[in-house]
Amino acid sequence: MSKFITFEGIDGAGKSSHIEWLTDLLKSLGYEVICTREPGGTPLGEELRKLLLNNPMHMETEALLMFAARKEHIEQVIKPALEKGIWVISDRFTDSSFAFQGGGRDLDYQKLRTLENFVHPNFQPDLTLLFDLPVEVAQSRIQGRVLDKFEKENIDFHNKVRNMYLRRAAESQFDALVESRFRIQKIDATKDIPAIRADILKLLHDTVFNEI
Ligand code: TYD
Repeated sequence: MSKFITFEGIDGAGKSSHIEWLTDLLKSLGYEVICTREPGGTPLGEELRKLLLNNPMHMETEALLMFAARKEHIEQVIKPALEKGIWVISDRFTDSSFAFQGGGRDLDYQKLRTLENFVHPNFQPDLTLLFDLPVEVAQSRIQGRVLDKFEKENIDFHNKVRNMYLRRAAESQFDALVESRFRIQKIDATKDIPAIRADILKLLHDTVFNEI
């Protein structure tokens, strides 16, 4: 059965190259895989991404637009692919809204829960890989890049994002919506690339591959 895997982490956590590597690896094993991202993943979602990453707005507007883009993504891309037996790997999903809007911007957790239940009741990733590392290390990795609205936020913002991710990870085992007891698995993103890939393989083996 196909699986839905998401990658999460603070800005500068270094998810991208691992997403590409995992997509290629699964394809080489004979699986059909699509690789997508949030906000984005559909023509409308990509338009919303440009607005979200470049314009200041009320934090609730920001959360609503993230979830609006997500609804299109789920209905147009993610669910149809999974139904056809295609694996879906997404660079970010709802945990980003909890971390960035809930943690970073202090948007009320219950409001986010309401949006989550409205937009995707009874639907969660099969596995979420949370790339975790100290904010200072992540910041040094994105120095010199052209930064978007979120990347330009201060250290305090990014620390709150990180802490909310860790809270979500700790709570994920008790989430009644999720089949797997530990949906969110932490990856130590301070390690070098081969060590991180070995950790990802082990996690996949212990979770989604165990079931197929
Ligand atoms: P990111 O995934 O880091 O893309 P890139 O690697 O091209 O920089 O950028 C997306 C940004 O959007 C990131 O800073 C997190 C933010 N974001 C939210 O604030 N809430 C959300 O729900 C999602 C999906 C992303």
